[in-house]
Amino acid sequence: MPSFKNIREHWVRPALFFGNNPISLAGGAITTASAVTMIAYWLVELFGVASPNPYLGIIFLFLLPAVFIAGLLLIPLGVYVRRKKLLAAGAIPSVYPRIDLNDPIFRHGIDIVLIATVLNLIVVAWASYRGAAYMDSPEFCGQSCHVMNPELAAYRVSAHSHVNCVECHIGSGAQAYFSAKVNGTKQLIEVAVHPIAGLAPKLIPNYPTPIPSPVTSLRPARDTCQACHTPTRFDGEKLLVKSRFADDEQNSESQTVLILHLGGVDSLSHKTGIHGIHLGHIEYISTDETRTTIPWIERDNPDGTKSTYVASALNGAQPQGERRVMDCIDCHNRASHTFVTPEEAINRAMVDGAISPELPFVHKKGLELLKTDYASEDQARTQISQKLQAYYAASYPAIAGPKAQLIKAAGDELYVLWSQNVFPYMKMTWGTHPNHIGHQDYPGCFRCHDGDHVTKTAESITQDCAACHNLLAVEEAKPKVLADLGIQQ
Ligand code: HEC
Ligand code: HEC
Ligand code: HEC
Ligand code: HEC
Ligand code: HEC
Repeated sequence: MPSFKNIREHWVRPALFFGNNPISLAGGAITTASAVTMIAYWLVELFGVASPNPYLGIIFLFLLPAVFIAGLLLIPLGVYVRRKKLLAAGAIPSVYPRIDLNDPIFRHGIDIVLIATVLNLIVVAWASYRGAAYMDSPEFCGQSCHVMNPELAAYRVSAHSHVNCVECHIGSGAQAYFSAKVNGTKQLIEVAVHPIAGLAPKLIPNYPTPIPSPVTSLRPARDTCQACHTPTRFDGEKLLVKSRFADDEQNSESQTVLILHLGGVDSLSHKTGIHGIHLGHIEYISTDETRTTIPWIERDNPDGTKSTYVASALNGAQPQGERRVMDCIDCHNRASHTFVTPEEAINRAMVDGAISPELPFVHKKGLELLKTDYASEDQARTQISQKLQAYYAASYPAIAGPKAQLIKAAGDELYVLWSQNVFPYMKMTWGTHPNHIGHQDYPGCFRCHDGDHVTKTAESITQDCAACHNLLAVEEAKPKVLADLGIQQ
């Protein structure tokens, strides 16, 4: 083949001559060794037997390709050094050692080198493609760096556990991708140097604990949430049943039943209810990091005018702070990372039976154990279960034996609840991240709907309970409405 011949004469011969040096040879060896290892790993992965451990992913998808490329770079470096040396010594031969093209072994050898180069290029391309795909996976985002374990833990038990992190955090488009990767690299460095960050706090970057929320760089919901959810869909009414258990010996159960006016945009283009009314035309200024304190709200009215609602605390001053157009995240700020209160955690676990309501005082005792400070995850794992068992052994010896299994299951579940919400190494505990849905545990809707935000003409944002929901029962034992609806006997 003429092109092969041309390359051999003008490139390969000098390259072979200069390449015969320790640096280039070492580079060749490193490249070959890492390529073989990577290919072997991919084969293993192809047959589905590779470990899902994210650290392995980091080694095979990032470290080895880096080593591979470093090896590749060593080859021309060695050529350059040797050529320079020979040039200085005036020892460059006028004619490079002849390649005997009639020697079939040698000819094939060179063809193999060329084919190997093409293969190497494919390896690099494939490795970078796989690396990019891997960087988009929840394993990489949440697990490779333990800093995000709290978000990953909540994500895993959320309705979004099959939605990749990047679909909400990055969205689509090259610019979003690039800026996220730049940001991510900075965070990766902070995590890598964390063990020594204490030595020189001013010089070495450290990551904040906990990771701050809100994420100010998050893209508008229309580019993320709305890729899957349609705000114009009319959801109408939503029935919500919440169970609570009391702190008495029987763990008495009561229920709150409400119908939320979720609304949406109906077939006559009427915007109604919670989902219909807020999107696109309400701006606000918040003055604290969690967007909880909102002294100023402005609404674009359909007739082109604006209504400005101002909190009395502002006393006519100009509010300073972050200005935002309200979107999904201003209510659903914990979408896919819902950290709950200890009360909500234990009530839910008792409703689904993971903590048996048959155990006397389990609600009261369980809450107490959830709210205790533990120095570490290990301590919580052992102490929560042990303390619950010790409590029944001391206070209810008659059931400690027969109900040992229920007690053990309750202790294990309490630990699971704790571990989904408390992360000592990230300085995260119950209530660190407020949830803006509702108004019982955090201000939520009442950040604006508190009757205190008024326009110049003394209109306020409604605080009428019925504007948002019908309360059908509030903490009633066996509410009749659930029987009427056929939900409960
Ligand atoms: C359904 C969308 C969605 C998915 C999927 C998602 N997140 Fe989030 N994430 C959010 C929202 C919304 C916030 C809070 C934004 C705000 O208030 O500004 C957030 C906040 C965060 C924060 C900031 C700290 C905090 O707790 O608020 C981190 C870190 C985070 N997410 C990591 C992850 C990781 C890791 C994954 C994948 C395992 C992931 N997210 C998947 C929507 C999502
Ligand atoms: C890639 C698609 C996708 C994206 C992006 C997405 N979601 Fe979802 N969302 C889903 C799916 C799938 C479900 C689960 C539906 C089910 O389980 O029935 C869901 C469920 C929900 C629910 C109901 C369950 C719950 O957690 O209370 C809410 C609320 C929600 N999403 C809000 C959001 C918000 C807010 C965002 C943007 C921050 C968002 N979603 C982004 C696909 C998505
Ligand atoms: C004004 C606050 C608010 C805004 C803004 C808002 N939501 Fe909601 N959303 C709610 C409330 C409240 C619920 C009911 C919560 C519950 O079930 O406990 C809800 C429920 C949902 C559900 C579950 C519906 C179901 O049938 O269970 C989805 C999905 C959802 N929202 C998506 C979105 C998306 C996407 C956006 C942005 C386009 C959005 N929401 C904007 C308050 C809001
Ligand atoms: C940033 C401020 C803000 C927050 C937070 C907020 N709202 Fe609103 N809401 C408004 C404003 C302003 C209006 C009046 C909008 C209009 O009439 O166009 C409104 C109107 C409403 C209405 C219609 C009232 C009526 O008279 O028909 C409902 C229902 C509603 N909000 C529910 C909620 C719920 C539920 C939440 C919490 C999940 C919430 N809002 C959170 C600002 C807010
Ligand atoms: C701006 C809208 C809004 C207004 C006004 C409002 N609520 Fe609510 N309320 C909500 C939402 C949203 C939820 C559901 C929260 C959730 O999904 O857990 C809720 C839930 C509740 C619950 C059940 C909470 C639980 O955890 O058991 C009670 C009780 C309640 N509201 C009482 C009231 C009363 C009483 C008023 C009138 C003084 C009122 N609310 C006014 C939006 C509102």
